[in-house]
Amino acid sequence: MPRRLPIAYRFTKAFTNALPSVLLQGVIPLFRLGTPVRNLFGLHLLKAADRRIRQLKRTHRCAVHGQKVWRSASVLLDYLQEYPLEKGLRVLELGAGWGLAGIYCAQRFDAAVTALDLDPAVFPYLQLHAELNGVSITPWVCDYSALDESHLHGFDMVIASDICFWDQQTQPMLQLINTLQRLNIRTLIADPGRRPFIQVIETLLAQPAGQTLAVENWSVPHPYNVHGVILDTGAPYVEL
Ligand SMILES: C[S@@+](CC[C@H](N)C(=O)[O-])C[C@H]1O[C@@H](n2cnc3c(N)ncnc32)[C@H](O)[C@@H]1O
Repeated sequence: MPRRLPIAYRFTKAFTNALPSVLLQGVIPLFRLGTPVRNLFGLHLLKAADRRIRQLKRTHRCAVHGQKVWRSASVLLDYLQEYPLEKGLRVLELGAGWGLAGIYCAQRFDAAVTALDLDPAVFPYLQLHAELNGVSITPWVCDYSALDESHLHGFDMVIASDICFWDQQTQPMLQLINTLQRLNIRTLIADPGRRPFIQVIETLLAQPAGQTLAVENWSVPHPYNVHGVILDTGAPYVEL
């Protein structure tokens, strides 16, 4: 007659028999969550669940909304994909946050990119993504409202996404765009259509003619499904 096994042994046995399917269905996907990388216009973008991002969030808290890549960055990337830059420009990205647009310009167009942001906490996220995408970016901690001609002479082009979201940013943004136009530096800014930025556009359009200015509603369909507005002071499709 077969000997009955003790209850504790039978329980352990049942658990170890089930282990392979537990591993396959539960634990392995959990491990996969540890290295989630998203593809955004051919760039590697780490998700919030990535170990490195979680670690940085403990030590570097972004204070001015630079805690993620915003949807307008996809609007800007799509526009740059549609209208590529000439190679080797010196590009300044304003309010760069994690700096995806600047990284794209460095990778695709061999641009020498400087990433400016008011908040020093964004730069470890930016450098991590620059490394991940195999490019080098120069960081610059600075408030864009403090920029004057002397700071801007060394750049061919300025890009930005979603950096005019408070009413008090409208005037500094307007002044900066006017300075850039005086210097003949092309400026390309994407925005989700927030009121402070729309006021910038309305004021620019009401200014006397003589400056080239393209304003486009821009939709990026599936899989990104984002919409925004693009301001481009040197759009290649505008007749001079
Ligand atoms: C909404 S986030 C956008 C970040 C990034 N451009 C994107 O699209 O994902 C705004 C960024 O602008 C920066 N910022 C806000 N005001 C600024 C200013 N006056 N000068 C420089 N950077 C500023 C913030 O620190 C933040 O990184």
